[in-house]
Amino acid sequence: MAIQWSGLGPELLLRLDRDSGQPLRSQLEAGLREAIRGGRLQGGERLPSSRELARELGTSRGLVQECYSQLLSEGYLTSQVGSATRVAMGAYPAAAEPPQRPEPPAQLIADFRSGVPDLASFPRGDWVWATREACGSVATPDLDYGDPRGSAVLRGVLAAYLRRVRAAAADPGHMIVCTGFAQGVVLALRALAETGIRCVAFEDPGYGAADTSETVQAVGATRLRAVHVPVDDLGIDVAALDGSGAQAVVVTPAHQSPTGVVLAARRRHALVDWAHRNDAFIIEDDYDSEFRYDREPVGVLQGLAPGRVFTIGTTSKALAPAVRLGWILAPPSLTPGVAAQKRISDRGSSTLDQLALAALLESGRYDRHLRRMRATYASRRAGLIAALARHAPGIRLTGLAAGFHAVAHLPAAADEQAVVAAARERLVGLYGMDGFRAARVAGAPQLVLGFGQVSGRAIEPGIAAVADLLG
Ligand SMILES: Cc1ncc(COP(=O)(O)O)c(C=O)c1O
Repeated sequence: MAIQWSGLGPELLLRLDRDSGQPLRSQLEAGLREAIRGGRLQGGERLPSSRELARELGTSRGLVQECYSQLLSEGYLTSQVGSATRVAMGAYPAAAEPPQRPEPPAQLIADFRSGVPDLASFPRGDWVWATREACGSVATPDLDYGDPRGSAVLRGVLAAYLRRVRAAAADPGHMIVCTGFAQGVVLALRALAETGIRCVAFEDPGYGAADTSETVQAVGATRLRAVHVPVDDLGIDVAALDGSGAQAVVVTPAHQSPTGVVLAARRRHALVDWAHRNDAFIIEDDYDSEFRYDREPVGVLQGLAPGRVFTIGTTSKALAPAVRLGWILAPPSLTPGVAAQKRISDRGSSTLDQLALAALLESGRYDRHLRRMRATYASRRAGLIAALARHAPGIRLTGLAAGFHAVAHLPAAADEQAVVAAARERLVGLYGMDGFRAARVAGAPQLVLGFGQVSGRAIEPGIAAVADLLG
């Protein structure tokens, strides 16, 4: 029950700092909002009259009136003719207990987390430019709900781009713009489930192998059964896939996640052959193919068998996960099914963001950013190789062909989890292969070392700090 202050009303402790340079009105508004949110002023409580508060604070009455009327329009206050201004009922429930602030995570010397690009290098200026272009050029009818496959402009530009850089058999009519791989794979799997497919295979180890991965959790919501197929030095074991009963498989041929191996040429052909023989489908996760160092990039599998392969691409590695834009090149027979799933899911991705991406691609800014990032990651990769050679020469590093992670092979007797825990105590973020394995079957002890998020300068001290754990 709010206290009914009578008389002139209570004084209200609000501080105005005349030296701060911030306008007095903003300070007063912020002070009142904070008092209401924090429960100092509760629903129904009367505020001092504007004349009284102005006198207390030594300001003009007009300034207080403007401030009250702003908070009235925001719903923090109420007022009736002939009655005082009060705190609106239910504007903010009094906080019973102040919320606990989580402990800030300890500052690491180096964090070798994989999967995330260098966020500090996101091309902010280019994105601002592209967003302006998109906003300025979008036709008014295109602000409506559109084709669930996405903007025709972006699909046209992307198809040309993927034909050029990924040797894809890219037709804009069979492209569906989505929010990234996470959504793309779910849309493809749902469309496949609609055609009667019941079993999908994932690489093990793999992005979709760990039972905590979003992909595996999403598969749980379809009628599909998931099986896991081993990966060796040549990529996914196609013979094992053949015996698995799967009618669809999710693979990372250009740079296996997380082992980093490139699917060998004969396996690529065997995989496509498997799909043809079994009337099956391949979902190709083309997640970081933009970053390749020593050799020419391999083209997408989809170019070999466009009727059997979905290729899913994403801007999460090339730009940043926050962009949430990706694309699916679907087999022609399944394009309507995938488009229908996209429509059911969210009616289509943001047209403005799609137009911004199209502008980025067409203007060459996207390629310029990739060139810059390729050089950055190549130098970090060289730094990682050099730091390991210097501090832990016994450690073998593999999977360096592309992307921004590699695999460090620990001595056979090492305890992967103990190494990870001990490194954390020394403020170094290391991550085991364990988290990528299905059913947590123990394998050879390995670390997945990401260098997207660790600055070039932090690599050497990071590795030096854990060298004895590695060796
Ligand atoms: C193997 C792999 N594929 C795809 C992605 C990207 O997913 P999304 O496009 O949903 O951000 C990731 C992100 O970590 C990944 O590791």
